[in-house]
Amino acid sequence: MRQFSFTVVTHAPEETDALAERLGAAAEAGTVLCLVGDLGAGKTLFTQGFARGLGVTGEVTSPTFALMNQYQGRLPVTHFDLYRLEREEELDEIGFYEYAEDIRSVVLIEWADKFPDALPEPHVWLAIERGKAENERRLAFFTTEEESALWRALTEK
Ligand SMILES: Nc1ncnc2c1ncn2[C@@H]1O[C@H](COP(=O)(O)OP(=O)(O)OP(=O)(O)O)[C@@H](O)[C@H]1O
Ligand SMILES: [Mg+2]
Repeated sequence: MRQFSFTVVTHAPEETDALAERLGAAAEAGTVLCLVGDLGAGKTLFTQGFARGLGVTGEVTSPTFALMNQYQGRLPVTHFDLYRLEREEELDEIGFYEYAEDIRSVVLIEWADKFPDALPEPHVWLAIERGKAENERRLAFFTTEEESALWRALTEK
């Protein structure tokens, strides 16, 4: 399904942050990034760098309790965290579909794997896994759409 993949291994939070910032700088309206990985994998840290790359200047915090935060950078940025949601109907209640499908903004969704059928298409899937060393992370990106600014920035290097 998401037939194109690209993997990056980082060895420090700063490396993940720098990659995320570079990709955020390239992101275009309609970009949807689904972030999955264990607690503390680096989903929020990645989002913070990505938002900075998009020109967001204020603090970007984890929406674990808020469920959704919005920022204004070069484009509007909507950041979801689905961790605390239990039922798919709750997505409707928080306005998930309305915001996630807004093609004028950039959307990041932490714990997207909780509701795989609810995600906008196309999207970029980012699975973050811990490596052997404490600060090692494997960032595996997947997409169905190679022709996006984000994917080009990711793979050109
Ligand atoms: N290479 C790395 N890349 C990203 N984060 C790293 C790396 N090495 C260590 N870390 C640390 O891992 C933690 C990642 O925390 P973060 O809040 O981003 O995780 P999360 O995936 O959002 O977790 P949650 O599921 O609780 O929301 C930070 O403390 C960060 O400093
Ligand atoms: Mg988080």
